[in-house]
Amino acid sequence: MSKIGTEDNPLRVAIVGAGPSGFYAAEHILKDGDLHAQVDLFDRLPTPFGLVRGGVAPDHPKIKSVIRVYEKTAARDGFRFFGNVKIGHDIEVEELEKLYHAIVFTVGCETDRQLGIPGEDLPGSHAATAFVGWYNAHPDYADREFDLSSERAVVIGNGNVAMDVARMLALTDHELRQTDTADHAIEALDAKQIREIVVLGRRGPVQAAFTNPEIKELGEMEDADVVVDPQEVELDPASQAFLESDEVDKTTRVNVETLKEFSEREPEGKKQRIVLRFLSSPVEIKGDGKVESIVVGRNELVEEGGTLRAKDTGEREELECGLVLRSVGYTGIPIEGVPFDEKRGLILNEGGRILDSHDAGHKTGHYTAGWIKRGPSGVIGTNKKDALETVQNLFEDVESQQLLSPENPDPVAVEDLLEEKGVRYISFEDWQAIDQAEVGRGEPHGRPRVKFVRVEEMLETVGERLAG
Ligand SMILES: Cc1cc2nc3c(=O)[nH]c(=O)nc-3n(C[C@H](O)[C@H](O)[C@H](O)COP(=O)(O)OP(=O)(O)OC[C@H]3O[C@@H](n4cnc5c(N)ncnc54)[C@H](O)[C@@H]3O)c2cc1C
Ligand SMILES: NC(=O)c1ccc[n+]([C@@H]2O[C@H](COP(=O)([O-])OP(=O)(O)OC[C@H]3O[C@@H](n4cnc5c(N)ncnc54)[C@H](OP(=O)(O)O)[C@@H]3O)[C@@H](O)[C@H]2O)c1
Repeated sequence: MSKIGTEDNPLRVAIVGAGPSGFYAAEHILKDGDLHAQVDLFDRLPTPFGLVRGGVAPDHPKIKSVIRVYEKTAARDGFRFFGNVKIGHDIEVEELEKLYHAIVFTVGCETDRQLGIPGEDLPGSHAATAFVGWYNAHPDYADREFDLSSERAVVIGNGNVAMDVARMLALTDHELRQTDTADHAIEALDAKQIREIVVLGRRGPVQAAFTNPEIKELGEMEDADVVVDPQEVELDPASQAFLESDEVDKTTRVNVETLKEFSEREPEGKKQRIVLRFLSSPVEIKGDGKVESIVVGRNELVEEGGTLRAKDTGEREELECGLVLRSVGYTGIPIEGVPFDEKRGLILNEGGRILDSHDAGHKTGHYTAGWIKRGPSGVIGTNKKDALETVQNLFEDVESQQLLSPENPDPVAVEDLLEEKGVRYISFEDWQAIDQAEVGRGEPHGRPRVKFVRVEEMLETVGERLAG
């Protein structure tokens, strides 16, 4: 048999997860002119693009234009998409090992980190993961309900996801109806009674994780005043010293300037208020059968291992509220047969090469990229460089021919397997039909698209196209 990666024996790669990192990995593999490679990109959903479709806020449509880049990758020779195929459920990892020389896991971090406080699971307390999935029409969250009938909602966390959910809660009906927000979310948000959205950061303005455009946007809402108590932006000596040092980055400096400017504003009397609080941690969520209030603890910052950590001062305050959105980060979900670092919530790896265990070597032919490789941080573009590192390591292993030895590398084998198992998979062409149908549904309303929410609706659309 000739070398793997030649015309007679092309490199066969399965990529699991069609988000940004899956597409960037595919692009890096397929654009190498010297290598003969074929990539099959799997996703558990019929729709590709991961969080670009199911995470990025609907009122930020420009960010989604990165999809054009992924469409170019999908048009490359050797690329195939298999949507609606969940690895570890519809196909096992062991089965992929029989069909491919290499497997790259790019499954993202699909669940939420827990706060570990009493009342966290009361009805009315939700992970931002669920709220984001719900307003973005992710099929997993189609049946979720959010009670928006109270006057106050509390968002926990100071990252960009917290900014997104606070903003989405405050958008007007008119603004929402120009976006691709799920219809069920538009209806529910239109009927909301929420007048105040309190955002709790456990550390200070200098330590906030959000970025400049996202915080500035909260100050430009059509129907919400942004409110920051001047005391909240008075910095502790260590934060002030850092801000004045050469170490400070522009993002932090501009964040603090923006928050100071907010604190000098007089509210304009808009219908809603977004109140930004710092040095405030949730201690308990209370209520009789549903969320009625949240106990907030006041923190001070203490230096520990070179960073400023939040320490409870013991001071308490109780805020009445009916909705709590916990936006304290995402974490990965293990897949059967893939070594997982439970502590970090990631696939165990070194530079994208999956390790058998903490002390053992590389699991031949198994790789990872994106959030599930490095953790749930970084913007879309961060995943391009991240996927490159993984693919460079994969190419080194092609060079030394340290790959899997599949029993059946024929491209038809996976189609046969899926048919045998009765899995109705979605090709990239099928996805384009779904895409066109969604865009068509949006056109009469001046919206970019009206998303399908249920997998069955998406499959029916493809069925209709095939029949017609
Ligand atoms: C709410 C939110 C908003 C964001 N907004 C922005 C923004 O505005 N701008 C920006 O630059 N960045 C934004 N980001 C960050 C950006 O979305 C991520 O950096 C990026 O999506 C991570 O890419 P990924 O491919 O690693 O994971 P994902 O995008 O999560 O993709 C993972 C894919 O794997 C699939 N999958 C999971 N398990 C399986 C399985 N077992 N079998 C098959 N498929 C599977 C999933 O369905 C999904 O399609 C946002 C993130 C979040 C959470
Ligand atoms: N528009 C955009 O570009 C955009 C939009 C959305 C998301 N993203 C990106 O996607 C990534 C994920 O965003 P994210 O907001 O989920 O994560 P993130 O940026 O890591 O922010 C998580 C926030 O939760 C806080 N937190 C963690 N544990 C906590 C606890 N126990 N109690 C209280 N607060 C706690 C963190 O505070 P500490 O700092 O104190 O730990 C931090 O403020 C980020 O890189 C983000 O930039 C980008």
